[in-house]
Amino acid sequence: MQGHKTGLTGTKFIYDPGLANCGYNDIFVRKNRTMNISVIGSGTMGNGIAHTFAQQGYLVSLVDISEEALAKGVSTISKNLDRQVSKGIISEEDKTKSLANITTFTDFAAGVSSADLVVEAATENIDLKLNIFRDLDRHCQPHAILASNTSSISITKIASVTARPDKVIGMHFMNPVPVMKLVEVIRGYATSDEVTSEIMELSAKLGKSPVEVNDYPGFVANRILMPMINEAIYTLYEGVAGVSEIDTVMKLGMAHPMGPLQLADFIGLDVCLAILEVLHKGFGNPKYAPCPLLVNMVTAGNKGVKSGQGFYQYSAGSKELVVADKFKVR
Ligand code: CAA
Repeated sequence: MQGHKTGLTGTKFIYDPGLANCGYNDIFVRKNRTMNISVIGSGTMGNGIAHTFAQQGYLVSLVDISEEALAKGVSTISKNLDRQVSKGIISEEDKTKSLANITTFTDFAAGVSSADLVVEAATENIDLKLNIFRDLDRHCQPHAILASNTSSISITKIASVTARPDKVIGMHFMNPVPVMKLVEVIRGYATSDEVTSEIMELSAKLGKSPVEVNDYPGFVANRILMPMINEAIYTLYEGVAGVSEIDTVMKLGMAHPMGPLQLADFIGLDVCLAILEVLHKGFGNPKYAPCPLLVNMVTAGNKGVKSGQGFYQYSAGSKELVVADKFKVR
């Protein structure tokens, strides 16, 4: 079943399969008009990615499994556009146009059928992602580039379940996507030079600063970030200092906008744990072993901002940073 539309109908293009039978023509097909974008998943990253493309004038098909998830994603985009309007970054008219560029779908095949580029931003679970890429390969047009926003799963592995590994690539956006400048562009083992250059150019057109990296566990961003977060959790676990003290040292001493424990809550403690497990398994080096405190917190359901409890406790509508009861110094 096709989902409801949230905006205006985009210009339909006539696709000529004869044009896309060889690499050269794939590029011709993609380059001669504004790309149609499909985003899979309307959670935090997916709605931020859809927001960013739509704001730059791209037609975006936002795909998720339920109408509720899509409605929540679109409502978040609308609120985040409001923030930009109130700051004078965009006008009310820009907001209306951006929302009109987004169409929502619960029907996977319909949502990806006209895509030139798909950005997958589903839950960070390897089996789920492999299934999505098998389906994308089946339902997308032959020239379409398939990108994943994975934070640590191998792009080479994801590409291996498709018949187009040269057109599979990582586009790792950072949270909050409309604000953060970086796109980590990850080349899988078989990703072509042409596809890599196109994604680098496209990311720059979005107003981002893309950086090209190779496909090894954690890529660059999380290979460096996660050991720092894990070490901050060990520092707390071993009683060296409290939550606020650790975060204050890193905020004021190293000019980080958030301390590592607050950032871990913001990213999601389950996501941090999953990435550390990929690093630990991928390199076989004990230095990446997740801190037992992190494992316990995730097992107990304390996942950070999204669950209301992590190193800090969160209540709707409040921006005050309150250390979780468990970590309050008595
Ligand atoms: N959409 C649009 N604008 C947003 C936004 C959103 N979702 N979230 C925040 N903003 C804007 C605000 O309007 C505000 O704009 P101005 O600067 O023009 O005033 C600005 O961002 C700052 O927001 P706030 O005033 O609400 O809050 P802040 O000053 O505390 O900044 C922050 C918030 C931008 C998130 C900042 O704390 C920060 O940079 N934190 C670190 C974020 C980070 O490290 N992200 C990467 C995480 S790792 C990752 O994503 C990948 C992975 O694989 C794990």
